[in-house]
Amino acid sequence: MVYSGNQNNVSGLSNAELAERIIRLKKEKNAVLLAHYYQLSEIQDIADFTGDSLGLARQAAKTNANLIVFAGVHFMAETAKILNPGTKVILPDLEAGCSLADSCPPEKFAAFKEQYPEHKVITYINSSALIKTMSDVICTSGNAVQIVESFPKNEKIIFAPDKNLGGYVNRITGRNMVLWDGTCEVHDILSTEAIIKMKIENPDAKLIAHPECKAPVLELADFIGSTTAMIDFTWNDDAQKYIVATETGIIHQMRKNSPEKQFLVVPADETCSCNDCPYMKMNTLAKLYLCLKNEKPEITLPEDIIMKAEKPILKMMEISRKLNLIR
Ligand code: 13P
Ligand code: SF4
Repeated sequence: MVYSGNQNNVSGLSNAELAERIIRLKKEKNAVLLAHYYQLSEIQDIADFTGDSLGLARQAAKTNANLIVFAGVHFMAETAKILNPGTKVILPDLEAGCSLADSCPPEKFAAFKEQYPEHKVITYINSSALIKTMSDVICTSGNAVQIVESFPKNEKIIFAPDKNLGGYVNRITGRNMVLWDGTCEVHDILSTEAIIKMKIENPDAKLIAHPECKAPVLELADFIGSTTAMIDFTWNDDAQKYIVATETGIIHQMRKNSPEKQFLVVPADETCSCNDCPYMKMNTLAKLYLCLKNEKPEITLPEDIIMKAEKPILKMMEISRKLNLIR
């Protein structure tokens, strides 16, 4: 379709037309579109790469594109900028934050850290650039256990900001890391009661959970892992039905890979049938199109923050390579 009039007025465009324009603009501008698995399915479908936080960070670091369009949340786009400072990084909606990253304000964390002067700081990637500058190494849900285990058993460690992921790693590794009291508002409210009910009604289903879920949910799970690991598990596993304890966007890839299988979403409580991350879902095709067209909003960071925040992320990559977690 030929569209005339105000090019920023996209209200008359269908999803198919928006998708077509985005694909065309990507080519014209040599832009790469990176999308997290919690994005709307129509965004995932036109992305050059869909992945978990680790996969997306690696793609951002190695791309030769002139422009990185990040369909995800702010800390992910910020990580892309830190790893590829010479490339312009844009995010469809700058308000797309993360409750977990927000649960760890830099001033409060600095004061917390001062109470533990002998401790190393391992920080989950779901954190602001400033928190990363105060960290020794970053981890993701895909490598948290291995990153922690790469430290000597007697090392004193602060783990921030997710107490659910930190608690899970403590249980797996037998460590006693000091945990920052932060949670993800989406995962933390997934209902254990609803899961038990679903398990009784679906005895043939396996429960798969993201480690940001609280301990009682994780205790019930047949498999715990990052979004990529959860998708891979449903692909390779021989069960036909899964109860999925994470954000709903992930189901899109699971259904694409295994259309014959059934995926049941865990509700947050009795009244809610879905659990969408309100920040991830701020990105729409219309915002994505305008962002790519106008090349804004842009992620910018002071050079000294980039340099300091890059160190612990590179450390994570180095440990992951040594352990053959990435190549
Ligand atoms: P993953 O790295 O497992 O994709 O997790 C990102 C996230 O925000 C989970 O809430
Ligand atoms: Fe942050 Fe939770 Fe949304 Fe992930 S699902 S981006 S941790 S608020």
